[in-house]
Amino acid sequence: MASTLADIAQQALRHLNPKHILITGAKGQLGTCLRALLPEAQAMGHTELDICDLGAVHDFVNVHDIKLIINCAAYTNVEQAEDDKDACSRLNCEGPRNLAATGCQLIHVSTDYVFSGTSCKPYTTEDHTDPINVYGLSKLAGEQAILAENPSAIIVRTSWLYSAFGKNFVKTIHALSAERNELKVVCDQVGSPTWAHDLALALVVAAANYDGHGGIYHFSNEGVCSWYDLAHAVVKFSAHKNCAVLPVPSSAYPTKAARPHYSVLDKSKFASTFNVTIPHWQESLEQCLKQF
Ligand SMILES: NC(=O)c1ccc[n+]([C@@H]2O[C@H](COP(=O)([O-])OP(=O)(O)OC[C@H]3O[C@@H](n4cnc5c(N)ncnc54)[C@H](OP(=O)(O)O)[C@@H]3O)[C@@H](O)[C@H]2O)c1
Repeated sequence: MASTLADIAQQALRHLNPKHILITGAKGQLGTCLRALLPEAQAMGHTELDICDLGAVHDFVNVHDIKLIINCAAYTNVEQAEDDKDACSRLNCEGPRNLAATGCQLIHVSTDYVFSGTSCKPYTTEDHTDPINVYGLSKLAGEQAILAENPSAIIVRTSWLYSAFGKNFVKTIHALSAERNELKVVCDQVGSPTWAHDLALALVVAAANYDGHGGIYHFSNEGVCSWYDLAHAVVKFSAHKNCAVLPVPSSAYPTKAARPHYSVLDKSKFASTFNVTIPHWQESLEQCLKQF
């Protein structure tokens, strides 16, 4: 029988030697969650280690005898990326290539945005990629650059990441619903939210089981919802009952970057490889909101 993600991750932590692990982008939302699980790892924020600086990356890895890199650094501003293509590509493609070129084991995080979102069934790791915006293109290029340098790297694609840290949809809705009587949220884009803490647990499990055979995995929380459903749940669990959440179509909020309408990832490969049950998004959202 499969065990819970938290239980498997606790076992995994006993098998890891954090002193030889480097966490890059350690001050972002995922990096912060990972640091909490691996407090003795070498956790470097942007200003301490720039992953686009090949020399600095090599020096760091050699000086600290790093065996495994978990890359949480990324250019994540999807709207801004449309006007900032070079910077986005540098960080999401050249940076990960630099990490792969160190020869260390590498766990890298990618995105549902490598897909077009035109499917109507969960995307498997084998499905055709076809990004529809600059961010998605840069993340796909990053995956390809990594696998060209280091075919045994692990890539974990995730979606709709949120946490109590940094900027994310859940935090925004939580704050707005305390101030407003009404929020309009798009209801025609569906996906699976991912609590960054659960993704950090998943990365720890992947790290502890790393046998030199890499590959692509998908990880998000279980279940499917729209942004409207997610906002509705945030308001419900936060007890901001005076705020009504109203569904609107995407056309009500035109964006520079095209957004996939269907972003659900098939996580069966992750669940079966590591014999874990993945928490449902509503369960994890409720846990996360207790930290707010
Ligand atoms: N957020 C989502 O909804 C979502 C969805 C799917 C996949 N993902 C993927 O999940 C991963 C984690 O995302 P996240 O939301 O935790 O990202 P995040 O909060 O935006 O954190 C990214 C971190 O990267 C750092 N960084 C920027 N440039 C860097 C550089 N040159 N060298 C080293 N670090 C640098 C940033 O530092 P500064 O802020 O100081 O620049 C920031 O702390 C990313 O790979 C992202 O693409 C995210």
